Amino acid sequence: MLAEHFDYDVAFSRNLGWVNEAEQHLLRTKRIAIAGLGGVGGSHLLTLTRLGIGNFNIADLDIFEQENFNRQAGASLPHVGREKIDVLQELALGINPELNFHKFSSGVDANNLDAFLDGVDLYVDALDFFAVEIRRAVFAACAEKGIPAITAAPLGMGVAFLAFLPGQMSFEEYFRLAGRAEDEQLLRFLLGLSPAMLQAKYLVDDTRLDLNAHKGPSTPMACELCAGMAGTHALKLLLNRGDVPAAPRGLHFDAYRNKMVKTWRPMGNDNPIQRLGLKIVRQRLSAKMSETPENIQSTPATVIERILDYARWAPSGDNTQPWQFEIVSDKHFVIYTRDTRNWCVYDLAGRASQTSAGTLLENISIAALSEGLEASFTLRDPAVDAEPVIDVLLTALSQHTEKPPLLPYIQVRSVQRLPLSTQPLMEAHKQALEKAVGSGYRLIWIEGRQKKWQITRLLLRAASIRLTIPEVYEVHKKIIHWGVQFSSDRIPDQALGADSVTVKMMKWALKSWSRVKMLNRYFAGTVMPRIQLDLIPGLRCGAHFIIVADTPRVKTADYLDGGRAVQRFWLTATKLHLQLQPEMTPLIFSTYSREGRRFTDNADKQAAADTLRLELDALSGGEVDAVFMGRLGYGAAASSRSLRKPLQQLKTVKK
Ligand SMILES: Cc1cc2nc3c(=O)[nH]c(=O)nc-3n(C[C@H](O)[C@H](O)[C@H](O)COP(=O)(O)O)c2cc1C
Repeated sequence: MLAEHFDYDVAFSRNLGWVNEAEQHLLRTKRIAIAGLGGVGGSHLLTLTRLGIGNFNIADLDIFEQENFNRQAGASLPHVGREKIDVLQELALGINPELNFHKFSSGVDANNLDAFLDGVDLYVDALDFFAVEIRRAVFAACAEKGIPAITAAPLGMGVAFLAFLPGQMSFEEYFRLAGRAEDEQLLRFLLGLSPAMLQAKYLVDDTRLDLNAHKGPSTPMACELCAGMAGTHALKLLLNRGDVPAAPRGLHFDAYRNKMVKTWRPMGNDNPIQRLGLKIVRQRLSAKMSETPENIQSTPATVIERILDYARWAPSGDNTQPWQFEIVSDKHFVIYTRDTRNWCVYDLAGRASQTSAGTLLENISIAALSEGLEASFTLRDPAVDAEPVIDVLLTALSQHTEKPPLLPYIQVRSVQRLPLSTQPLMEAHKQALEKAVGSGYRLIWIEGRQKKWQITRLLLRAASIRLTIPEVYEVHKKIIHWGVQFSSDRIPDQALGADSVTVKMMKWALKSWSRVKMLNRYFAGTVMPRIQLDLIPGLRCGAHFIIVADTPRVKTADYLDGGRAVQRFWLTATKLHLQLQPEMTPLIFSTYSREGRRFTDNADKQAAADTLRLELDALSGGEVDAVFMGRLGYGAAASSRSLRKPLQQLKTVKK
């Protein structure tokens, strides 16, 4: 459509109803200043243009680049390398060709501040988060000139809104930045913007936030929410509708958390609650800065490193990661496995470690396929079952193959130990899982109320062994990482599936064996962990499963192969949005009973394993070679999980 056919009254007629005609025409006469046309400024401009505002003062000195694509209005292929201010002016003129612009193409600074705010009815802040100095200057000038000034900050998947209105608390009085170092100013700005810090709960990778490098993560949803929030308050201010919260009051809406909080911080950052919050954030940041360099991941440089970078996400009992890699050439590497039989009662014959190593091989095979390679595995000494060494050779595939469909699930697959939905598994999903284990294996499903009760009784019996023998105490002491959400070499306490009181009790008890004994004897110490870790999850799931080997496994190679089937099963479950928790202790204790292996000095508990075996055989329909057992169900993925050691730490050079 040509610009001369444009008709303001038609273009913005659908605003009518929420504003009346007189108000719409008033909006047309208003001038809004927007500093910054990046993350939120572009969306502000386009939203306010669609609201029918007729005049803008805009400032920006940047050009569009690819890293702006995730969120910035106007950031797209045709605009890369172009001035943001020109692109956004064009886009806005495409909505209202009658717009009047005063452009500040070298940004706002102390010299043009007066011109930038000349004739302005409202200032909408959209400066870069890190541009603290100029932001202070603009807000101070607005206060001096009696111009209402608002800011809507994109935080996580939400928006934090503050308004500084004429004659009320000023930006400086609220944030209290004067005389502070830059780091501290940024911290104060962040905590002042979002006293509720709703976004902090769901940041999944804090390495992406780097205040020193002036970099932080962002989302497109937050920018659009900001435009909505700022646009709404712009309308209320410009039409004098009232009810705009002014600092020290603020609003924080978080779409991810389904939460809206109205904040009130008299004295701004000098408020005792803010001072406490600042102290906590400062401590967290300094702990983050002092993280050991070996925990920092480096980008894999070669094909083998890329394959191993996937491989290391294989699951292992208690997250022990019992493997190291030696890269021999660009087509050959060696896996040195080191089982945990000398300290882990769950791994007395090294079979759990071999099953884990099998999951590693499956990851290698999938990751190699994604590089157009086939991985072949050779056990150096097939007769050895302790510390097997595996040579991996990579050969080019003759035909081009599709990207392996399970590849994207290698890193996101994780244990979920919390209760799951009791919705039965869909038939199509069961069939996909049956197919995934492949030939040589079959699945036993344990479903329905009665069967789930039976298996839960079994789990409780295994727990009564697990939680009361000193041999297991030694393992739990070693493998739980207390007070963390993520752990690269253990299991975080928050991923155990117990509530915080029970976790605290477990932490206290695990300081010494005598504490465990005392708690168990006088205070029924196993009751809460058994209810939370076994009873409730045992019943609250879609189904339990056992992966069975058609031919009983004998050699190390058989156990490795079993592990590969486990990984195909688990990755497929992840793809189907099913959560999984292994339930290996009943299986492990009953195998010990079958093999006549002594695993504890406690004769009663050794005998309990015999009963467990009979019950498990009854549930499996007779004696079977059970490779893996667990529960499955629909539900959200775990928010706390085990991570992995960095590849650098897993690489070795053997002589
Ligand atoms: C052979 C094997 C046995 C396991 N046994 C159990 C188990 O009995 N209970 C449990 O909650 N998790 C069990 N796990 C899960 C591991 O603890 C988990 O894979 C590891 O901590 C890494 O965490 P992630 O899978 O969430 O990445 C087992 C894993 C493997 C490979």
